[in-house]
Amino acid sequence: MFELSKKMNELPPYLFAEIDKKRKSLISEGYEVISFGVGDPDLPTPKRVVEAMKRAVDDPSVYRYPFGKGRSDFRRAIADYYKKYSDVDLDFEKEICVLIGSKEGIAHFPLAFINPGDVNLIPEPGYPVYQIGTILAGGIPYFMPLKEQNDFLPDFGKIPDSILKNAKILYLNYPNNPTSACADSSFLKEAVAFCKKRGLIILYDAAYHEIYFDGKRPTSFLSIPGAKDIGIEIHSLSKTYNMTGWRIGWACGNEKLVSGLATLKENIDSGTFEAIQIAGIECLSGPQDDVEQMRKTYQKRRDVLVECLRKLNFQVKIPQATFYLWLKINEGSLSFAEKLLLKANIIVTPGIGFGDSGEGYVRFALTIDEEKIKKAMEKMSNVMGEK
Ligand SMILES: Cc1ncc(COP(=O)(O)O)c(C=O)c1O
Repeated sequence: MFELSKKMNELPPYLFAEIDKKRKSLISEGYEVISFGVGDPDLPTPKRVVEAMKRAVDDPSVYRYPFGKGRSDFRRAIADYYKKYSDVDLDFEKEICVLIGSKEGIAHFPLAFINPGDVNLIPEPGYPVYQIGTILAGGIPYFMPLKEQNDFLPDFGKIPDSILKNAKILYLNYPNNPTSACADSSFLKEAVAFCKKRGLIILYDAAYHEIYFDGKRPTSFLSIPGAKDIGIEIHSLSKTYNMTGWRIGWACGNEKLVSGLATLKENIDSGTFEAIQIAGIECLSGPQDDVEQMRKTYQKRRDVLVECLRKLNFQVKIPQATFYLWLKINEGSLSFAEKLLLKANIIVTPGIGFGDSGEGYVRFALTIDEEKIKKAMEKMSNVMGEK
């Protein structure tokens, strides 16, 4: 009787929700499942942040609608953070808008800036919400394959003029989910020049900017000269401070892009609970030792996983950032993932779920402890040994 809208029917199934359903159903059947599936940190939010939240929530002045672009003290803390760590200048009044997590901002942004029939350029494999937001806004996704031979960077020269003619937004995400690739300043300069020439917007998803290894901090998109003329960066506290459940992020960069998104949001949500924003100030302004410790933890897990996979004769590229490992396999990604699930109760994400160019790969999330990684690898070794 109640038919879903055409746009809803155009949406692909939401991969991570599907994986989580499978995990829960196996657990309910009594199996011990080890999940490298969803990229949701297992480590706790830093204590200093939880304490700041507890203090904030005791003050009744935060109980009302937050409205607007967010608390000015939180936006100031964001601006100070960009200055301190990336030498980027941001006007906290005009160039920053608080989000209910970066997913929210990414999903809504096209509604503010595209018209039906406009084309958005989307990296593939990639985070599914670029495509979802585009479809919901009546736009047309054009997928830019990220190939290993190009270091998982899109080749702008391969985008046909017929597509570019109607293109509006270029999505970029480095450090990249799912490939874990990073973009250097020469690529980012090329992207900025390309978009300036064509009048395109860059939506830069920096969700994993702080999850890097071996002391090599990734280049900040907004530090590229001219980036702010055409770009908006979307970032959040989710991955850096283990706060995926808290739902807080921000958009920053070009004033018009930020204010367009803020105006749209004024019409559909009423902002992020102010106590969470106050805890967010503690995140960015407090000592960052916990973040450094978290990087070390992921790095150790990465090293354990890389070593085990190499012993199983996989050719492994060592991730330099994110908490993902993108593994090349010699078979279909769905059948590989299904085999691991059914024979070893291990969940990995099939690459095809991130788009056609993800075929031939599976993604491991490093969001389980070393012991579980080792245990999973033992089970995997039995499966790999089978003919
Ligand atoms: C590339 C990328 N961007 C954005 C997000 C959304 O993060 P959040 O909405 O928690 O800020 C994720 C989450 O997995 C992601 O992988």
